[in-house]
Amino acid sequence: MMRTRPLKVALLGCGVVGSEVARIMTTHADDLTARIGAPVELAGVAVRRPSKVREGIDPALITTDATALLKRGDIDVVVEVIGGIEPARTLITTAFENGASVVSANKALLAQDGAALHAAAERHGLDLYYEAAVAGAIPLVRPMRESLAGDKINRVMGIVNGTTNFILDKMDSTGAGYQEALDEATALGYAEADPTADVEGYDAAAKAAILAGIAFHTRVRLDDVYREGMTEVSASDFASAKRMGCTIKLLAILERAADGESVTARVHPAMIPLTHPLASVREAYNAVFVEAEAAGRLMFYGPGAGGSPTASAVLGDLVAVCRNKLAEATGPGESAYTQLPVSPMGEVVTRYHISLDVADKPGVLAQVATTFAEHGVSIDTVRQQGRPDGAGSEASLVVVTHRAPDAALTGTVEALRKLDTVRGVASIMRVEGE
Ligand code: HSE
Repeated sequence: MMRTRPLKVALLGCGVVGSEVARIMTTHADDLTARIGAPVELAGVAVRRPSKVREGIDPALITTDATALLKRGDIDVVVEVIGGIEPARTLITTAFENGASVVSANKALLAQDGAALHAAAERHGLDLYYEAAVAGAIPLVRPMRESLAGDKINRVMGIVNGTTNFILDKMDSTGAGYQEALDEATALGYAEADPTADVEGYDAAAKAAILAGIAFHTRVRLDDVYREGMTEVSASDFASAKRMGCTIKLLAILERAADGESVTARVHPAMIPLTHPLASVREAYNAVFVEAEAAGRLMFYGPGAGGSPTASAVLGDLVAVCRNKLAEATGPGESAYTQLPVSPMGEVVTRYHISLDVADKPGVLAQVATTFAEHGVSIDTVRQQGRPDGAGSEASLVVVTHRAPDAALTGTVEALRKLDTVRGVASIMRVEGE
């Protein structure tokens, strides 16, 4: 039977995502009512700038006092789309203390304080849902938390940042350098004025922490995620990648160790073969490749950012949380029972593409090969090219290794840098997805 008292929703933040959430709640009100089993009503919208004109939102709902909105006693669900750590953390805690379940799109907060927020939700018998925090519109958090709850995820590899994928895709398709591609991304609105969070991999690392926790049923915080940005990726790296039948992507890679006793979580640029499904993810799209024991390989693909796609994920959570409220139940909370530790980057085992500038004279190749061997890193292929500008005195040497621990590669590179014949290490890139 349809309940007539509406479920009341407080919206915290009314920017690109929040305004779209409010719009869809209004335009799709009848469908949402039918799907939830009760009407759902926007009871208040907390904003920083009340004077801004917000089309389609009753001005009487706008307030600058988010805390008072949460404490008024009749709010069933809070939608937090403010972002950042504070005041979002305090407001979500206040929401739980006042009996409201929470839908959040806040990856930074969940990656940093997810455990405490989950604990607060559980203490109060409420929900914390956050599909929109990772990869925008792509259903990923709930498929991993619910659909794959009976399976065992061993590996997750994804493109979870649209800005950097746009830049890398431009570099790949046009031969542009990093700065030129970034300028185009900025002009087209794909990159923010300060692109640091995206290009240095912080945004992807927060998403990686959230996904790793869900995938492996353990706690992974932002600080546990190894992170390298993509600002050093050059046009010549792309040329090398092409020669190997690869492209370059900024990847979040989460793995269960072979012995099952630990996990690793990392974000860095990597070469992947053009035949890998992630290689065909173009422009600002996101995609996540999940390898599960029983299910096999799954790929989730779609728009990872933007007001409307992110609002779609928020609304999906809102419907689920409202249904739970009506059923006087809660959805899945944090699952961290495995307590698997997160191993340091040095223990990650993968392949490497190393580009060296070396003296072009007898014995250099042998010296370089010996250095790899001394550190237990096996070479797969070597390509040497004399440099026209070096008048025969300098050459470019590209070494691709077999799989080796990251610590062994780091040791190798340190030793290579000390060789008189090695003039410089032009680039080091991991090779994934083979
Ligand atoms: N800036 C992010 C991206 C979107 O480029 O994917 C929000 O996480």
